[in-house]
Amino acid sequence: MSTVRRSARELRPVEIPAGDFLLRPFTPADEPGVAVAMTDPDILRWTAGSAVLGLPADQRARGWLQPRLEGWSMGHAMFAVTDTASGELLGSVTLRDVHRVPDQAVAAYWITPAARGRRLAARALDAASRWAFTPSEGGGAGLHRLSLDHALVNKGSCRVATTAGYQLEGTMRDYYVEVTGRRHDSHLHARLATDRVPRIAAPGTQAE
Ligand SMILES: CC(C)(COP(=O)(O)OP(=O)(O)OC[C@H]1O[C@@H](n2cnc3c(N)ncnc32)[C@H](O)[C@@H]1OP(=O)(O)O)[C@@H](O)C(=O)NCCC(=O)NCCS
Repeated sequence: MSTVRRSARELRPVEIPAGDFLLRPFTPADEPGVAVAMTDPDILRWTAGSAVLGLPADQRARGWLQPRLEGWSMGHAMFAVTDTASGELLGSVTLRDVHRVPDQAVAAYWITPAARGRRLAARALDAASRWAFTPSEGGGAGLHRLSLDHALVNKGSCRVATTAGYQLEGTMRDYYVEVTGRRHDSHLHARLATDRVPRIAAPGTQAE
C-alpha cells in the first residue's frame, strides 16, 4: 500500500483560476464582503459556528475572517470564491484539517445570497477538490479522500455535494447541533481521488 503524506506545515496558499470565478486565500480586505454574508440566516445557521454567532452582529465578520487569514498555516485550505471580472467576494470553500487524518480533509462552503443560482458552490468545491487531489509534486495537497456533512433539511447543500461528485455514504443521527441546541440528522458525503471527475455546467451553459 502506498501513501502520500505531507504535514500541515507544508500547506502553501494557492490561487485557483476557474473561468468566471477565482479561488484565492482570504485577505483583510474581504471583511466588508464577509459582513454581508454574515447577515444571511442560512450561512449563520449552517456554517458560522457558535464562536461567531456568540459575537455582536457587527463583530461577526472580523470574528469569522480572522481564523481564515491564519488558516493555511494551521493546516486548513481556506478559499475565498471571487468573481474573476470584478473581484467581488461570492463565497467560501474550506478544506479543513488537511492531513489530520492522513490524506484526508473535510469540506464546507457558502455562497452569498446575491451569487446563488449559478451552481457556484458545486463548481468551486469541485475546483478545490481537484487541487486537493493533485499530487504534492504537481502543486496540490496530495489528498485521497474529502468528506463533508450537511443537515438533511439543507436540501440545497445535498444537491451541491452530489453535483460536485461527493457520493452519499450514510446518515449520521443527531450529528449537527444548532447554536439553539436543536439537533439534526446529517448526511455524510465523500469524494475520492479515484472517483469519476464530475463535469458541472453553470445553469444555461454546457459543461466543458
Ligand atoms: C448551499 C449553497 C452553498 C448553494 O449555493 P449555490 O451554489 O448558489 O446553489 P444553487 O442555487 O446554484 O443551487 C444548487 C442546486 O441546489 C438546488 N437547491 C438550492 N436550494 C435548494 C433547496 N432549498 N431545496 C432543494 N434544492 C435546492 C438548486 O435547485 C440546484 O439544483 P441543480 O444543480 O439540480 O440545478 C447556498 O445556498 C448557501 O450558501 N447556503 C447557506 C450555507 C450552507 O448551507 N452551506 C452548506 C453547509 S453544509
